[in-house]
Amino acid sequence: MERRRIFPSVAALTSAVADIIARDAKSAAEQGRRYTIALSGGSTPRILHETLVRAESINLIPWDNIEFFFGDERTVPADDEQSNYRMAHETLFSRAPISKERIHRIPGEVSPATKAAKDYETVLRAHFKSPAHGFPQFDLILLGIGTDGHAASLFPATDILDETKKWVAATYVDKLSTWRISLTYPVINQARKIIVLVTGDGKSDIVHTLFNDPASAKLLPVMRIVPKGEMLWFLDNSAAARIQE
Ligand code: 6PG
Repeated sequence: MERRRIFPSVAALTSAVADIIARDAKSAAEQGRRYTIALSGGSTPRILHETLVRAESINLIPWDNIEFFFGDERTVPADDEQSNYRMAHETLFSRAPISKERIHRIPGEVSPATKAAKDYETVLRAHFKSPAHGFPQFDLILLGIGTDGHAASLFPATDILDETKKWVAATYVDKLSTWRISLTYPVINQARKIIVLVTGDGKSDIVHTLFNDPASAKLLPVMRIVPKGEMLWFLDNSAAARIQE
């Protein structure tokens, strides 16, 4: 099921995501299981993290019941400015009562990137054991999108888009002249919930294409996700500005 919500501000959007995380993580705890999140890089997740650790939210979240993973990573050490882990550490892990054992980062410093991807798949396999459908089921995968329609590190015209077996893969992104490490479609598709966070007027053209131009949209990586659970599009007013055109 796919749903779209448009929020009057980034703050309203991130508060709504924080409410979902608080509610779903609590309900997982009541069912006696851990709640698993794959975090994203990017500008909106940074604001989401700041929302989660604010006084109004911090006590509503059962931190000890959440396992934090990552949807993708750059091929850099954990303390590099470009590292998604570093951003999450600065904005979330260091500010909330989260124990180290609950944080599972992608080892972006391991070379070659294909080994980093394998190592992370081993981490996921240790946690998710032998999942029913052959792929792990995250409770929540957070995604952002780029102006080229990429999500996580699934960029247009890269070989990772055709991956059907691996849980995690390394992929060379020509236009960035770099390797990235990312969860693959089969894992993203399997999630109980996916939330795509899209904010700012820089995203209004791609959002217009995604929702108004089905022929072009279906070629974009984010639209090739086939969610088995819920896929929620959370947009702010600026990103959604051209939707009605
Ligand atoms: C990353 C991401 C990437 C990101 C989008 C949107 O590591 O960069 O995982 O997929 O979410 O590029 O980023 P912004 O929110 O910064 O526009």
